[in-house]
Amino acid sequence: MPLLSVRDLKTYFNVFMGTVKAVDGVSFDLERGKTLGIVGESGSGKTVSCLSLVKLIAMPPGEIVGGQALLDGEDLLTLSEKELRKVRGRKISMIFQEPMTALNPLFTVGDQIAETIRLHQKVNKKEAFEKAVEMLTAVSIPAPRNRALSYPHQLSGGMKQRAMIALAMSCHPQILIADEPSTALDVTVQAQILLLIDEFKKKYGTSVILVTHNMGVITSTADDVMVMYVGKMVERGNIYEVFNNPKHPYTVGLLECILKSTGGKHALKTMPGFIPNPINKPKGCAFNPRCSRRMSICMAEEPPVVEFGKHVAACWLYA
Ligand SMILES: Nc1ncnc2c1ncn2[C@@H]1O[C@H](COP(=O)(O)OP(=O)(O)OP(=O)(O)O)[C@@H](O)[C@H]1O
Ligand SMILES: [Mg+2]
Repeated sequence: MPLLSVRDLKTYFNVFMGTVKAVDGVSFDLERGKTLGIVGESGSGKTVSCLSLVKLIAMPPGEIVGGQALLDGEDLLTLSEKELRKVRGRKISMIFQEPMTALNPLFTVGDQIAETIRLHQKVNKKEAFEKAVEMLTAVSIPAPRNRALSYPHQLSGGMKQRAMIALAMSCHPQILIADEPSTALDVTVQAQILLLIDEFKKKYGTSVILVTHNMGVITSTADDVMVMYVGKMVERGNIYEVFNNPKHPYTVGLLECILKSTGGKHALKTMPGFIPNPINKPKGCAFNPRCSRRMSICMAEEPPVVEFGKHVAACWLYA
């Protein structure tokens, strides 16, 4: 049985212009000790999918209008705020795009980690601080005891990311959600951070959800992948199967972007065409205006989810 089973998750935002169906019927499984990569362009609903699991959505304007998120058989979406507080941090920890949203500028790094440890473990202040230093050591921060006494702004970008991972991992969560942990960093630091997350995964058996724009980033670390496009899952499966035999033209396009980008000195290539307005999505398959293999039905009706064993794709080409 998977550790986390998300079924038909729907999170909408009611805004002045209409309803943004940010996540619109998304289903996926996260296996124990495995990494699931969630990939898609900006606005595809990757972050909202993750935040919905622990109800960290601004409600209103947001609303979880349907679905289930079963963690060890318990539906997270039905939990009270009090129950959710126990889940956040202890069972599910998140690393956000911007480290300063996780780190409090007013407290030293060591105190913040110690405080989190004390929330979940019965240890005194001194013991918690020692554990915080251990965590900073584990994320390879040089001179960890001194760094524990530093304030976040005294650390470099890469060090802040490491401190944030130490904070997120300090309670040994079952699930670590890393939302684009590396965009603001240079490529070497990015690779180091991914390696670090992978080490934690192996050491503690943590399951990881890795959210990124870049297919290339997850090739080395993910076991499974889900590709999203404006609120919908378009393809999902084992990473090797999806890479070697992508079914959805959108996935094919994303993969071409990384192939074209490797070796070149230019930034990542992007796919031609525009991401649609989420309030006014194209009829049928939302990808149809950008799709080179479009058929007339693609413009009329939403595609069915077609299964190739555990590898699935929502596309009329295979229906
Ligand atoms: N608080 C909000 N109010 C209104 N709309 C929102 C809100 N939060 C997110 N959205 C909308 O939900 C959609 C999905 O957003 P989300 O942040 O999940 O995208 P993403 O895939 O994480 O993108 P990125 O790669 O840029 O981080 C977008 O259209 C976004 O504008
Ligand atoms: Mg995001």
